[in-house]
Amino acid sequence: MREVKLNKESISFDAYETMAEYYFKDIDRKPFNAYYERPATTSLIQDVNGKKVLDAGCAAGWYTNWLLERGANVIAIDFSPKMIEMTRKRVGNRAEILRADLNEPLSFIDDESIDLVVSSLTLHYLKSWDNCMSEFNRILKKDGQLVFSVHHPFMDFTIFKKENYFLTELLDDEWNTPMGKVKVQFYRRPLSDIVSYVIDAGFLIEKLLEPMPIDQFRIEQPEIYDRLTKTPQFLFIRAKKL
Ligand SMILES: C[S@@+](CC[C@H](N)C(=O)[O-])C[C@H]1O[C@@H](n2cnc3c(N)ncnc32)[C@H](O)[C@@H]1O
Repeated sequence: MREVKLNKESISFDAYETMAEYYFKDIDRKPFNAYYERPATTSLIQDVNGKKVLDAGCAAGWYTNWLLERGANVIAIDFSPKMIEMTRKRVGNRAEILRADLNEPLSFIDDESIDLVVSSLTLHYLKSWDNCMSEFNRILKKDGQLVFSVHHPFMDFTIFKKENYFLTELLDDEWNTPMGKVKVQFYRRPLSDIVSYVIDAGFLIEKLLEPMPIDQFRIEQPEIYDRLTKTPQFLFIRAKKL
């Protein structure tokens, strides 16, 4: 595996190392992923057949596999060696799977060599998006697309009862998992910062979604379904390199 020095700004590394097996076994069936996040993110992805795609923050490889099944050539990256192992377990050698920290330059990927970057629920682990946005822009071909989902800033602001919406803040959370409680940290930032990082790096925002969960969510978890139809949990953006 590539030797990777973790950036000092990187957070939640231990959490994802701990949760790798759980991500492989259970996350695909979780209503938040299966009936809310994935339908929205995949609705933003156009034809990938024969395209070169970067899955940035691949976790246990669900998107890597989804993209491969649709004929893409995929480079999958994650900073967690255990997640890399899970992606490899899922897709074998059908993708190039590399350990990399998104707070660092992606110097192993050539300029203008990628058609699409997909990054699902990963960018809120980065304090600054300067590096990742300029790197995504560098590696994308002209008109190449960036599709990503993040925690919705409104959701983190209200759930964590914060006082100043306009700050970028590190939040501490605790997730209940089959391995017990896992401490996870992530950043919340205002919507204007999210949008500015994308635009200032040289992208045109084509779509922004605050989607509804699909019907199956209501069948499995009616109360959370009801909440999601009234308050957004995640935010989805598709942008094009100018
Ligand atoms: C919520 S998971 C992504 C879920 C996945 N995209 C899916 O839908 O199955 C977030 C992933 O981001 C990775 N991650 C967090 N910070 C990172 C960083 N600085 N560089 C690279 N990967 C990072 C974590 O290891 C984890 O696998």
